[in-house]
Amino acid sequence: MSILSLRNVSYQYPLEAEKAVKHISFDLKEGKVYGVIGANESGKTTLCNIMRGFIPELYKGELTGEILYKGKDIAEYNIGDLASEIGYSFQNPFTQISGVKETVFEEIAYGMENLGISREQMTARVNELAALFNLEELINENPFELSGGQKQRVALASVTALDPKIIILDEPTSQLDPKSTEDIFKVVEHLKKQGKTIFLVEHKVDLLAEYCDEIFLLSGGEMVMQGKTKDILSDEKVLKYGAGLPQIVLYFLQSELNNANIPLTVEAAYQMLEGSE
Ligand SMILES: Nc1ncnc2c1ncn2[C@@H]1O[C@H](COP(=O)(O)OP(=O)(O)OP(=O)(O)O)[C@@H](O)[C@H]1O
Ligand SMILES: [Mg+2]
Repeated sequence: MSILSLRNVSYQYPLEAEKAVKHISFDLKEGKVYGVIGANESGKTTLCNIMRGFIPELYKGELTGEILYKGKDIAEYNIGDLASEIGYSFQNPFTQISGVKETVFEEIAYGMENLGISREQMTARVNELAALFNLEELINENPFELSGGQKQRVALASVTALDPKIIILDEPTSQLDPKSTEDIFKVVEHLKKQGKTIFLVEHKVDLLAEYCDEIFLLSGGEMVMQGKTKDILSDEKVLKYGAGLPQIVLYFLQSELNNANIPLTVEAAYQMLEGSE
């Protein structure tokens, strides 16, 4: 069953001449991971803000079409109530940190204070999240004194703390080194196993190839390609729209191994070559 659906959604920021998002429709299914790619300014962040209800609530402008969460228009939900249903980690982790809490522990616990759970439960949950996001050693640090990558992990832990059904991650690994990036993808996999729906805006296509069920490609505010990861991330057209393809796909596209069944990951390539011997 689809948990979030967009039906012919378009949006124009106030005072802008052109729409930032044009005629977008899709259904998100429970427990699936969606990778969102597209060149700069293609509308990825705008789409995230629409799905979370920040547009038009905070940004104003003109929004048309339908956004349905569990079959009901999201405008009918209170924007605060939606926070525990649809988690959102912003593109810039600096804007995510609350600014009112003095330790990483309190920062992660912040959103939970309004959920009416006991202090013991809250402590247990924060400790669990600190372990998951590799924040145990930073638990008593001031969130503002952390590096960009550490802030990004704190922001993700805070979002996950509210146990939302859908998690929107807008470039969650932009400040992270390769090892921490891989760790975030492992967390995504873990959340998927818990049945979460993940909407992941990310440029690192090699990892998207490995972890996503479907890929959405935006260009100029339009959804220009959308489908199974295997079909989209092996298609040369993706390059034309200013997005990337996995290294191994680029290699196959250029080589005489080029065929209808391009592997997306190194592992899949090995399997394919072994099978052909
Ligand atoms: N607050 C705003 N007011 C007016 N126009 C905006 C605003 N935010 C974004 N835009 C415009 O909307 C379009 C889409 O921008 P958006 O930030 O959604 O793209 P993006 O794909 O997330 O880009 P990036 O890869 O740089 O994060 C761009 O033309 C941008 O200039
Ligand atoms: Mg963006």
